[in-house]
Amino acid sequence: MNTSRILLIIGGGIAAYKSIELVRLLRKSGYVVRCVLTRAGEQFVTPLTLAALSENKVYTNLFDLKDEVEMGHIQLSREADLVVVAPATADLLAKMAAGIADDLATTLLLATDKPVLAAPAMNVRMWLHPATQRNVVTLRGDGVTVLDPDEGEMACGEFGPGRLPEPTAIFAAIEAALSSPLPLAGGVGGGPVAPSVLPLDDSGPSDMPSPSPSRKREGDLRGQPDFAPENHRPLYGRRILITAGPTHEPIDPVRYIANRSSGKQGFAIAAAAAEAGAEVLLIAGPVPLPTPPGVIRVDVETAVEMAEEVLQGLPVDAAIMVAAVADWRAADTSAQKIKKDGSGAVPPLALAENPDILAGIARSPDRPPLLIGFAAETNDVIAHAGAKLAKKGCDWIVANDVAADPMGGESNRVHIVSKNGIDSWDRLPKAAVARKLMEKIADELDARSPRQPD
Ligand code: CTP
Repeated sequence: MNTSRILLIIGGGIAAYKSIELVRLLRKSGYVVRCVLTRAGEQFVTPLTLAALSENKVYTNLFDLKDEVEMGHIQLSREADLVVVAPATADLLAKMAAGIADDLATTLLLATDKPVLAAPAMNVRMWLHPATQRNVVTLRGDGVTVLDPDEGEMACGEFGPGRLPEPTAIFAAIEAALSSPLPLAGGVGGGPVAPSVLPLDDSGPSDMPSPSPSRKREGDLRGQPDFAPENHRPLYGRRILITAGPTHEPIDPVRYIANRSSGKQGFAIAAAAAEAGAEVLLIAGPVPLPTPPGVIRVDVETAVEMAEEVLQGLPVDAAIMVAAVADWRAADTSAQKIKKDGSGAVPPLALAENPDILAGIARSPDRPPLLIGFAAETNDVIAHAGAKLAKKGCDWIVANDVAADPMGGESNRVHIVSKNGIDSWDRLPKAAVARKLMEKIADELDARSPRQPD
């Protein structure tokens, strides 16, 4: 039984009804829950319902002086182990990012010294608006865990990201946040990785680095959403390694070579693999995305670090190499910031080729039984993917047509190219691509080595 204390702040919006289910899940697991309803939240759920379910008083008004005597807002915000905002509306996120405290909920959020987890819910345009995205970046930078909203059809009839994550997913994120051995700065998944300069060898593309002592691992497999009995989940008992995001290759302490990979597709795949019951190791380049529930994540910066962590993560049943690994790194990394000397001369930038991680593990004795590469192509997508399949020695290439929608978008049109042919899918949200891919991987693994019934 978990007896941690949750302060649940419920914002306004049609998704507020899901907070009722969240309270039920939390109470069922033994959490002590105190609810705070914003004025807008009161339009969607009643204090009475929340009080009955949480078996606790529900707070709505900052200026309720009687309650100030019983419990001041400072105490209310600090007696919790975790403050959860669900649904977190665009307005609440904006106020949190700006430090505005004009009602009870925002005052508590400004006064708390406890970790904060926000589950956003809003119209898709509001979520994608640069102002909201800016606020999310600010909040994650401040150490708030901001979950990504779900994608799908919304109450307003539009389609896209903005739906409140399911209560089971929020519950899992709460458990992961509370059991995280690390400070929550930058979210459950941590913020952008601090730049660091590594002494890099230039041993050439074919040399895979040898495994090094482990980097910080975070995440908790106990956080997997509880949507089906474990052994009914299609990937239960399978171990899956995923790489995601870009790599950053330092030139000097302040400059690096990078690419535009957002990491969204790789993170969606990690989330879907965990939901399907797999044990998931996500090796992530520098991206400010939260760790999906139930996923163990290792943050890396460079291709060499990523290669080390991949080798260390083997053996696995399947490896899905979604990362956009930089092909080259600076041959020499300067320990000091390179300065202009005023002559107009440009410093020479010699490059060295990075190890090809995918091709490297295809040749390794620990080659996973199912090895999958990704390829973002702008033209001759299938021909390029076929060539890459042979060149890299993997089983499938998920070819991603980025001509119309470059990296960073919310959807993908993919073709799965293998020696058995081409499976082309319609353009789908990245979460849907991830789920479909998990079904295909589960079928393939079951065909190769059926799981033993419990
Ligand atoms: N990959 C890798 N290590 C590298 C480069 C790529 O593991 N150093 C993996 C990627 O994660 C992806 C696949 O190889 O799964 C294809 O990546 P891509 O960048 O398309 O391959 P390249 O060989 O770099 O081909 P291109 O010339 O098109 O960039």
